[in-house]
Amino acid sequence: MVTTRLPEESARLRERTAALGAGLGRARHRFSLFTAAATFVLIFVGGLVTSTGSSLSVPDWPLSYGQFFPPLVGGVLYEHGHRMVAGAVALLTLALAVWTCREEPRAWARRLAVIALAAVVLQAILGGVTVLLRLPTAVSVAHAALAQAFFCLVVTLALVTGPDWVSGTPLAQRDAVLQASSVATTASVYVQLLVGAVTRHTGAGLAIPDFPLAYGRLVPDLASFPVAIHFAHRVGALVVSALVLATATRVLAARRRDPRLTRPALLLLALVVLQLSLGASVVWTRKAALPTTAHVAIGAAILATTLVIALRSLRDGAASGAWLAHPSAQGASA
Ligand code: HEM
Repeated sequence: MVTTRLPEESARLRERTAALGAGLGRARHRFSLFTAAATFVLIFVGGLVTSTGSSLSVPDWPLSYGQFFPPLVGGVLYEHGHRMVAGAVALLTLALAVWTCREEPRAWARRLAVIALAAVVLQAILGGVTVLLRLPTAVSVAHAALAQAFFCLVVTLALVTGPDWVSGTPLAQRDAVLQASSVATTASVYVQLLVGAVTRHTGAGLAIPDFPLAYGRLVPDLASFPVAIHFAHRVGALVVSALVLATATRVLAARRRDPRLTRPALLLLALVVLQLSLGASVVWTRKAALPTTAHVAIGAAILATTLVIALRSLRDGAASGAWLAHPSAQGASA
């Protein structure tokens, strides 16, 4: 459908586009990178709450023991600390959404920033509800799932405001195999994070006490839910590893001169090796707080890295990726 723009509207768009290229856009890009980094820290700090068994050490919400800042003794340090970092990330997201809505010429990117803001508000409510209802599994898993989805949103905002995305320089050729493989990898990692969250929040983390075997066998008796979900997470790790290997191999074989893809592909391989080792140490250390929390955080890092590869490969090839491109590369039609 052809849309007509008033001359003032087009001029305003061009002005904003120019501002994006010069300075203003770069500052917002850095701010969105900072917000993504803060969200990563938040995921680690949030993971610590469960790993240290501190989830119910503050029984009320939104205040903590009726106060804004209670004495940080025992588990209160982790639970209240998580709330403080979450508050900071919510404020960063609010600022990012306002800034994006004021300066961003691409309507879809503005929508993304507003969705991120809605997600962080919903996430805070889910966090509060899970405390007030004393950790029902469904709410705790939803809180874990939304945390990862929110992280994807801020990572996407950081990516699409980056210099290589907004420059409108000639795009690489479309690689359908890489597109399919990277999207499948991202989806599989997200499902794996969900299965991990169910494992964690149903207390099935040690339902299979040995690793790499399971009760000394390749496949354990799957009659009980905790063993079945724990085993599903291990099988998921194999699927994720195979897809990551396929995506990284494709990047290194077909796009080895494109650092936008080779850098995240190599990082992805390293992160998966680290994650498999951390998964093993979760079992071997009987869920020691540090490796278990690192396992949650590295899961998020894997998701973000594979998402970056998927989005960059989707942007390549002007025809299929046009909706992702900067307006200067599409006649300001976004
Ligand atoms: C690439 C592969 C993997 C990914 C992306 C991944 C990711 C995750 C994530 C994100 C969680 C926590 C979810 C949450 O609470 O939000 C989790 C939990 C868990 N993962 Fe993995 N994981 C992987 C492989 C493994 C492997 C190989 C093992 C070995 C047994 C393992 C063992 C566990 C255990 C035991 C839990 C529950 C921890 C608890 O109860 O606190 N994971 N995984």
